[in-house]
Formats: sequence, C-alpha cells, structure tokens
Amino acid sequence: MIKFSKISLLIAGLMVTTAAFADAEEGKEMFAEAKCMECHNNEDFSESKKVHNFKQLEKRVRACQLSNSISWFDEDVTSVADYLNQDFYKFKK
Ligand code: HEC
Repeated sequence: MIKFSKISLLIAGLMVTTAAFADAEEGKEMFAEAKCMECHNNEDFSESKKVHNFKQLEKRVRACQLSNSISWFDEDVTSVADYLNQDFYKFKK
C-alpha cells in the first residue's frame, strides 16, 4: 500500500511537470507565429523593469496580442506567458 501511493505520487508529479513543459513549448510556437519579435527583442523581456510577476506578464502578453489583432484564447495567452517566463522572466508561480 505504501509503495503504491509513492508511485502514484511520482506519476502525478511527472504529469504536472510534463503539462507545464508542453504549455511553454506550445507558447514558443505561438509566439514565433505571431511575429511578436517584429517589435520586440530579447532585451525587452530579459531586462524588463515593468513586469514584476507572472500575472503582470500575462496581462502584457494579452494587451500586446489584442493590440495586434491576434485572437488567442486565455489558455494560449498563458502558454505564451509560460514560455516567456521560462526563457526570460523566471517568476515563481
Ligand atoms: C506593433 C509592435 C508590437 C508587437 C507586434 C508586439 N508588441 Fe509587445 N509591446 C509593444 C510595446 C510598444 C510594448 C511596451 C508597452 C509599454 O511599455 O507600455 C510592449 C510590451 C510587451 C511586453 C512587456 C515587456 C516588459 O516590459 O516586460 C510583453 C511581455 C509583450 N509586449 C509581449 C508581446 C507578445 C507576446 C507579442 C506577440 C503576440 C507582442 N508583444 C507583439 C509592442 C509590440
């Protein structure tokens, strides 16, 4: 019994990690397709003084997406924010 619950915990842990990774991967592709880098460069994200937590990052992604007439769903905005967070901002969530 004890063994069994340890294994299920391990599996649950793995699933969570994989899901977060998949989001960031998806976000990376969407970010590339949306041509965000036509206006931005890496320094915009890695030396940001305006964004201080993940919620604010999500907000900025949403604002930029809207002002460029891209219609992402909320979960897409989160995926792109996940990607930018993983590669640049590194906020704890
Ligand atoms: C037409 C030009 C343009 C495009 C295209 C654009 N942005 Fe932006 N973005 C801006 C400007 C200008 C700001 C700064 C706004 C401000 O500081 O108030 C900004 C700010 C941001 C920030 C906050 C940066 C910081 O200070 O940390 C993020 C994140 C961001 N954009 C993400 C995106 C994403 C994701 C896309 C692609 C969907 C995108 N942007 C496309 C012009 C653009």
